[in-house]
Amino acid sequence: MPAPRTGPTVKRYLHHLTILLFLGSVAASPAAEGVRGAPDLALATRTYTCAFSRAPDGLRFTLQSMDATGPHIDGWILPRHAGPAAAGGARHHTPIALQTGDGALAPDLVFLEHALVHESPGIDHATLAFRDADRRIRVEVHIRAYRNEDVLEQWTTIRNDAGKALAVASLDSLILTFDTDQETHLEWYDSGVANEVRAPTRERLSQELRQISGKEGNRHVKSPMPYFSLGLGTPPAETQGTCMLASLAWSGSARMSFARPDARRLGIAFGVNQPMPVPLDAGATLTSPACVFTFSAAGKSPASRNLHQWMRRYAMRDGDRIRPIDNNSWEACQMDISAKAIIDMMRRSVDLGIELYVMDDGWFGNGACARTSDRAGLGDWQINHERFPDGLAPILAASRELGIAFGIWFEPEMVNPTSGLFKQHPEWVMRVPGSEFRFKRNQLVLDVANPAVQEFMFRSVDDLLVANPGIRFVKWDCNSWLTNPYSPFLGPDRQGEMLNRYLEGYYNTLKRLVAAHPSIDFQACSAGGGRADLGAMRYSHTFWPSDNTDPSYRLGAVWNYTTYMPAMAATCHVTHAPRKAAAPRFPTKYRFDVAMMGQLGMEVDPRTSTPEYLAASRVGIAAYKEVRDIVQLGEQYRHSHPFDSVTPSMNYVTIDRRRALVLAYQTGDLQQDQPFTAPVAGLDPQAMYRVSETNLPPDDDRPRLQPGTVLLRRGDDLMTRGLPLIFSRRSDSGAIVLTVP
Ligand code: DGJ
Repeated sequence: MPAPRTGPTVKRYLHHLTILLFLGSVAASPAAEGVRGAPDLALATRTYTCAFSRAPDGLRFTLQSMDATGPHIDGWILPRHAGPAAAGGARHHTPIALQTGDGALAPDLVFLEHALVHESPGIDHATLAFRDADRRIRVEVHIRAYRNEDVLEQWTTIRNDAGKALAVASLDSLILTFDTDQETHLEWYDSGVANEVRAPTRERLSQELRQISGKEGNRHVKSPMPYFSLGLGTPPAETQGTCMLASLAWSGSARMSFARPDARRLGIAFGVNQPMPVPLDAGATLTSPACVFTFSAAGKSPASRNLHQWMRRYAMRDGDRIRPIDNNSWEACQMDISAKAIIDMMRRSVDLGIELYVMDDGWFGNGACARTSDRAGLGDWQINHERFPDGLAPILAASRELGIAFGIWFEPEMVNPTSGLFKQHPEWVMRVPGSEFRFKRNQLVLDVANPAVQEFMFRSVDDLLVANPGIRFVKWDCNSWLTNPYSPFLGPDRQGEMLNRYLEGYYNTLKRLVAAHPSIDFQACSAGGGRADLGAMRYSHTFWPSDNTDPSYRLGAVWNYTTYMPAMAATCHVTHAPRKAAAPRFPTKYRFDVAMMGQLGMEVDPRTSTPEYLAASRVGIAAYKEVRDIVQLGEQYRHSHPFDSVTPSMNYVTIDRRRALVLAYQTGDLQQDQPFTAPVAGLDPQAMYRVSETNLPPDDDRPRLQPGTVLLRRGDDLMTRGLPLIFSRRSDSGAIVLTVP
């Protein structure tokens, strides 16, 4: 499995009971059976401490907020009393399970030793080592604490000391057992229909075992997204209640398990959903991907801010740099593109204020393999001569001349049977021996576990980028799950490694490309949000949330994504969707106000849009340019959720708290004007803020600030009494800027 994502190589030194970060500052919980006096090892973040202590039954932890109001959780790492190495007992789910010659085995793990390494200022790494009774395997639970961001990261390794081969049926990343008799509530997102993340699923965890798993292998479409929120005591809400947020650095099938063996314990396990046990040779070590998690005593919104900060600092590319405003050819043109059309659309995009033009699918393949439909072309990454007779040179010349950056689409993991690649290398295609091919979108999946395929994927993208040095952006798509889940390269004995090797191959190819082309931005796309995860984001600047760009849908979807991902990572395109004649029409202002929640861009053909739409787009883009540093580099405060309220709203504040943007929406039916007080948070209570409104296009310029609003107000007053707005229709919205003059 890929090594955990962050931090320098750990210089490992093991010793007993010596290093304490804050010895004495943690009061052992009276309820914590087994905790006697000082902990054996402790990690601290800005607002909480996590102390570990040996107990007869295993290793206890106490996670405690430094002020009395925050979370206080007692629990266990791999408790023995709960059953062999299980989160909640072997009956429930076994986060670490082996397959040996004599059947499946959940090893009975005994705590052995620990180590603490100070990796860099603000980052400490604890290793908690366990052994099974026969000393045949060594398991290490790794926990890294990011002090300033209040984030913890956990992963697991297993080493085979048995002297003979084993197989690992499961090796979860996050493995914790909480001692809690409180109600626990789960919130997760099912990407559900096609590439849509819909309303969150919320449920009380009352069953003995609740397990949610993805099965697509290489992505998460029609699957759970690899993150969840847990409400401890009450359902997770935006601004109230104690909650935990967790997110897995993995772009394929994931599984979250919640076991309640009795009323007093909750076992949590989150990791890769392996289709088969993973072979582990004698002496070999397997490492799970990392899972990051954080806590809040005041709802999900503060916990999200921890994750945003952490991702922007450690887990995505250029997290301190503003993203350009793009226009993408897909929704308007599909595959009907040519050099002439692209140059024309680029020119008109510049006039709107667009900074990057992205040419999507349809530019490659020749002759019978031309990519004029989804039946042909994938794998043949040569420019189509008919549509682009002079290659990309004229487009890149226009890009330079017009002062607009240019980007391009790829889907390197895939192949159409109608392609030169398929004819040349049928052995590079995944195929279950003895079975007919199964297709998704007329395409097949390459055997990405094969290093030759990885080299081909790298070369395909690299050759084009080297030959066309003006390209500034690559969108990496993935429109099929593992329809024929067998790697010919690995052969019959090693299929258990298939998923890990595939994902490793995908990550390593991206890693090489990113190293070779450090100034190119990458976008993680998989039929929409199938790669909106920490694994892909390590090499990416943005992710594409969904092909559904209807703003009423996007409002909830992007909201959900920003629970775990920073706003700057979520590409939000303004389009003409929905296009069906009977579908509701959305005001252009509303489309822009919704897209302002993240990295705003467009997916329109400016040759055919109406003058009114284009005029409103110019205003929307100019407005976004004024505030995008607040959205992308500031902090997000979400208020009521779009699935709980017809007036959802959020605000963003710069780190110095001198500027803020309030975005408020009206999604219900309205017969008459309705006042709404938008909540505001995160301001400097003492500072005076000037209140102004932005994004009022010529065809929709009625102020949403209530008439007579006081335009100079103190931060504490704004945070206590809110901002008075007025809405007058369904799909109404306001974008209000607060500035310390
Ligand atoms: C699916 C993506 O989500 C779309 O944005 C577009 O790139 C198409 N694939 C192209 O085939």
